[in-house]
Amino acid sequence: MKTISIFGLGYVGCVSAACFANAGFKVIGVDVNADKVNLLNEGKSPIVEPGLDELLAEMVANGRLRATQSCEDAIRNSDLAFICVGTPGNEFGQLQLSALRRVSQEIGAALKTDSRRYTVVVRSTVLPGTTLKTVCGPLHAEAGAYARSRIKVAVNPEFMREGTALKDFANPPYTLIGCEDDATTELLRTLYEGVKAPFIVTQISTAETVKYVSNTYHALKVCFANEIGDACDRLGVDAQEVMRIFRMDTKLNVSEAYLRPGFAFGGSCLPKDVKALLYAAHHLNVQMPLLNAILPSNNGQIERAINTIIASGARRIGVVGLSFKADTDDLRESPMVRVVESLLGKGLMVRILDANVAIAKLTGANRRYIVEEIPHISMLMCDSAADLVDHAELLVIGSDSAEAVQVLEQTKSFQTVIDLTRGWLRIKVDANVQKRAAA
Ligand SMILES: NC(=O)c1ccc[n+]([C@@H]2O[C@H](COP(=O)([O-])OP(=O)(O)OC[C@H]3O[C@@H](n4cnc5c(N)ncnc54)[C@H](O)[C@@H]3O)[C@@H](O)[C@H]2O)c1
Repeated sequence: MKTISIFGLGYVGCVSAACFANAGFKVIGVDVNADKVNLLNEGKSPIVEPGLDELLAEMVANGRLRATQSCEDAIRNSDLAFICVGTPGNEFGQLQLSALRRVSQEIGAALKTDSRRYTVVVRSTVLPGTTLKTVCGPLHAEAGAYARSRIKVAVNPEFMREGTALKDFANPPYTLIGCEDDATTELLRTLYEGVKAPFIVTQISTAETVKYVSNTYHALKVCFANEIGDACDRLGVDAQEVMRIFRMDTKLNVSEAYLRPGFAFGGSCLPKDVKALLYAAHHLNVQMPLLNAILPSNNGQIERAINTIIASGARRIGVVGLSFKADTDDLRESPMVRVVESLLGKGLMVRILDANVAIAKLTGANRRYIVEEIPHISMLMCDSAADLVDHAELLVIGSDSAEAVQVLEQTKSFQTVIDLTRGWLRIKVDANVQKRAAA
């Protein structure tokens, strides 16, 4: 059975120490704060967390858990270390990484004369790139010769919430490991054998980022629900009932839908309905800064696409997908119509491939809109992927469609592709496509 050192006996460190000990491992807690070390050795919790006092007392009494101020003692007597020191932000949000850097140096120094293979796991919340720079850098520098091959580093963010931390440790949404070394991944897998949750392994920077994206999304949800609550209150509607029913839709609302990075939204409903709710709230003096940011954010995506295409310097542009999303002919408030109009305004030569729109031009319900409102755009339609590819210096993928695949398969090596759907990796691309400029 492995022995685990846990550096930093705050919320994350204490809960992790108690829970790993409870899972059967020997655990050594380390902190620079003598009071915390003494408390833990007396079987008392340095933090207030339901159930933790009892669990720590039991684990100290059965000899699976002890604490020390000595980094050397902890490293010498353990097989791997978790770093759980604080990473507070300053008034501007910038992370203060001195404790992280310091502990990494200390662990490295303690491993200098130690030829064993050792694993260091970052559990503190850190921005992408921090583990490599602030942990691996000082750790390997202090440890000296062959440090990189014998001391492996991984990231394992913690998803616990204060107040329910013990339950969250046992029932996380998943165990997330950022690690680029198979043996280290397998070692970490053994620590979580008792935790019934998906075990996800990814790159270190991805794992670091997921933690921030998760917390930012949680914050976004709170503010979304509160602004909707404010609007409902002023509209005389029961906000709790509205959100109760809203949450029952697990297909579109509380779901994977609309959560893939791609291009701007459009169409006949989303822009109109967001505007209508904002208008109503505004006239009732309801402040909705978050919801008011939606349309500017969406416009920003469209402008960034336009600027990227113009900045490429290409004169002949081929666009795949004109309607607001794949498999529809609806052009109302389509972001790609705005992109095309801007490119035409700059004098660029644009051709478009979108079979649904081409058919609608002849027969469909949108015929009037196409012929009367955007005749200058409807004249630009191509009949085939080959025609579009022949025309273009630069190809812009606006929809994740079968036509996009056809175009990508025919693209020549000198042509640049801007994939606004960012679905590039999901599309089987012909090997001769050399360049990609993500907008
Ligand atoms: N609190 C939470 O609910 C929570 C949840 C998930 C992730 N996190 C993240 O986990 C990290 C730790 O958070 P926390 O709330 O437990 O922090 P905390 O401030 O409560 O505890 C950090 C501990 O690290 C100790 N420490 C500092 N330098 C040290 C060193 N060189 N050696 C040993 N110990 C040292 C401090 O004395 C302190 O006891 C942060 O990055 C935080 O963002 C926190």
